[in-house]
Amino acid sequence: MTNPEPVAAEPVKGLEAHYFTDGALFEQIIESVFYKNWLLACHSSQVSTPGDFLTLSIYDQDIIVAKGPDNELKAFYNVCQHRGHMLASGKGNKKLLVCPYHRWSYDLNGQLKSAPNSKSVPGFDSSNICLTPIRVENFLGFVFINLDPECVGMDDCYPGIREAMLSLCPDLEQRQYAYHHQADEGCNWLTAVENYNECYHCKNCHAAFAKGIIDPDSYAIAPFGDIKVLHHTSLATRSDDAWYDVSGADYGSFYLWPATSIQFYPGGVVNSYSWSPLKVDDVRVFRSFYSNDGKVDEVLKKVIDNDRITTFQEDLDIVKEVQRGLRSRGYKPGPLIVDPEGGIDNELPIQILHQWLRSAVD
Ligand code: FES
Ligand SMILES: [Fe+2]
Repeated sequence: MTNPEPVAAEPVKGLEAHYFTDGALFEQIIESVFYKNWLLACHSSQVSTPGDFLTLSIYDQDIIVAKGPDNELKAFYNVCQHRGHMLASGKGNKKLLVCPYHRWSYDLNGQLKSAPNSKSVPGFDSSNICLTPIRVENFLGFVFINLDPECVGMDDCYPGIREAMLSLCPDLEQRQYAYHHQADEGCNWLTAVENYNECYHCKNCHAAFAKGIIDPDSYAIAPFGDIKVLHHTSLATRSDDAWYDVSGADYGSFYLWPATSIQFYPGGVVNSYSWSPLKVDDVRVFRSFYSNDGKVDEVLKKVIDNDRITTFQEDLDIVKEVQRGLRSRGYKPGPLIVDPEGGIDNELPIQILHQWLRSAVD
């Protein structure tokens, strides 16, 4: 008997372009991924006092996050239960949300309180009319929402993450929202999320980040157990060009599928990314920073400004170009650089993201 010929290993290829460009598939992804998973809505310090509310959208779903009169965090679909006008816009503090169309008003528990001339309608029972609630959780100060009423809670969805975050930042729950900026990236949400989750391009494209915050030789991105989290780790930079005093804890960030990452820079700078799809080839990224007093001090301002004009802008330029390339008739997905040794020049996270997406929509 002869031994079979060894089979040459085939490199894993990237995802075909239609996952990034096809409008019908995009709608399916919104339904199966974005309406079924936990998404970062805001920080609890932004809705800290009863009556505080803010509004946001997840694609075509408008949402209100509020602090109810009972001091409980609430989330509702932002739609009046009369004839469907959007109820609230922007943010503020109110006892009642009043619909701009016919002035039905709701308290911040979502209960209808009054409707003009409703007493003239036999059987009209305002106690039966409420805004439609959405799952909401305060996770270490971050407010997550989930449009799927059946989804398990954050700790069951992302076990071990609470402890891992607290080990990097023990006072995380005392942080307050300080600042955010945002940009429309001109690419599919996954193009942006892929770019965030690999550092194969970092030495080539992010000279400032590689010197200012982290030590690129120690950077790695690996799955966090068998849950849908990618864990970025690195030692703090040893360069003389550090943006600020980076002593203390090392770098760590936690990308929570599908569209949130919470980052801990060395020296205690806490920040986040969240991505909100706008259409098949556009996504809005929110870049938020958190401090101990809700203020932006000189050090934090320097980090925000440096990041914005270097790493953040460099990635914006990259992802737009990639999205254009994904529409090219000449594009065939190439092999991914999946390095069994891990390390910075490694696209294992891309392979994993593709598996997670395909398991949701194929
Ligand atoms: S639609 Fe809101 S009051 Fe009529
Ligand atoms: Fe990048």
